[in-house]
This record gives sequence, structure tokens and C-alpha cells, in this order.
Amino acid sequence: MNEELQNKLKKAAAVRVADYVKDGMIVGLGSGSTVRMLVDELGRRVQEEGLQFTAVATSILTATQAKKLGIKVVDLDSVDSIDLTIDGADQVDSNFNGIKGGGGNLLWEKIVAINSKKIVWVVDESKIVDTIGAFPLAVDVIPFGSQHVLAKFNQAGFEPVIRKDQAGHVFKTDSNNIILDLHLHKITQPVELADELIKTVGVVEHGLFLNMVSEVVVGKESGPEVLV
Ligand code: 5RP
Repeated sequence: MNEELQNKLKKAAAVRVADYVKDGMIVGLGSGSTVRMLVDELGRRVQEEGLQFTAVATSILTATQAKKLGIKVVDLDSVDSIDLTIDGADQVDSNFNGIKGGGGNLLWEKIVAINSKKIVWVVDESKIVDTIGAFPLAVDVIPFGSQHVLAKFNQAGFEPVIRKDQAGHVFKTDSNNIILDLHLHKITQPVELADELIKTVGVVEHGLFLNMVSEVVVGKESGPEVLV
């Protein structure tokens, strides 16, 4: 799928999922280009339609964008729970198991997600797959001793690569951690893999989000479709 079409499908799905946000809600806002389109639409509704909701952001970028558009953004610790979180994803299978972390925000995204009563993902149709894993799996790792985590992942055959930014520097997350991208090709046992990754000392979190979402809004050429 070419980028222009993909962006068009993301936009249509983002506008559709924005309807899920109602007055008075506390809403978790994910990260990435699709969520950026969602936040633009929510900002428009705040400014033009008087929509009033409170947002909890999963990245500094999302928080900055939302605030600029007049959306009220608060810290996660200042709310008891989140009514609804809307986020993007990199790949999703039919059991709603997904890979996230393409933008490096998986740690905050997962913390916001597990404190949410409902989670909805918004993706374009190229991200719906039979088996997740072709997209590299991001793992958030503490910088201290990270070469040893890298070596362990190499030994396990996970083909880890230290993520770099566009300038070629080691990518740093909003928590100042690094990302190891695992080239796993196919993840046939996601639960076992998630367990192994989280038990590795030095790993803070990984981008496997298993069975957490209740709906996926998919941008398709025929129009957005809601999978439940
Ligand atoms: C960031 C994420 C994003 O939600 C995911 O990478 C999808 O991004 P995009 O909407 O740009 O395709 O997990 O950590």
C-alpha cells in the first residue's frame, strides 16, 4: 500500500474513532501518526463544537500537540482511571494480539492502557495480519548494562537491533530508556515470548499487547470498519 493511500485510510479511521469521545470523559491518547490525526480531529471538535474532555497522553509529543489544540491534558497519577484509551498499533491479528512501539512509546502506552476501562485501536487495513511478527518488536530497556541484554537476545536468536534516531544517535524514549527492535519475523507463541521478555532483567516493557483491546477501527478503501 502506498503512503498516500495509507494516510488517507488512517485519517478516515481516526475521524471515525474520534466519535467515541464524549463530553466529560477521561481519555487516554496514544501516540504515532494515526493518533496525531485523531488528536487533530478532537482539537477541531473542542474548538468548533465545544467538546469537553480530559486527556491523559502516552507521550510528550501527543501531550504537546493536544495542549496546543486546546485539549485539557492531565497526568495519569491525577486520575483514578481512564474511561477510554484510543491508540494506534503496528500489527494486529484476529485475536486482537498486537505489536506496538514503532514510535518508541510502548512503555507509557502500556501503562495508560492497563489503567483504562476500554481500549480501542485505530489502524489502516495493511496492519491487520494473520500472524504478528513481521514488524520488529520493540523492547524498552534500561541503558545500564543494555549490551548484556542485547547479547542475551542475540543468543536467543531474536536478531536485536539498537534503535537509532534519524541523526544516527541512539534513540531515547520519553523515560530515557533505549529500544531494542527484535526481528522475529513470525510470533507463533506470543504469551510465552511476552513472559520470557518481561523476565529478562534490564527489560522494562515490550511491545506485545495481548488481548487488551475490545475494538479495532480499521481504515479500509471501502470506508472505516469496526472489528469487535
Ligand atoms: C508508538 C506506537 C504507534 O501507535 C504505532 O507505531 C502506530 O503508529 P502509526 O500510527 O504512526 O502507524 O505504538 O509507540
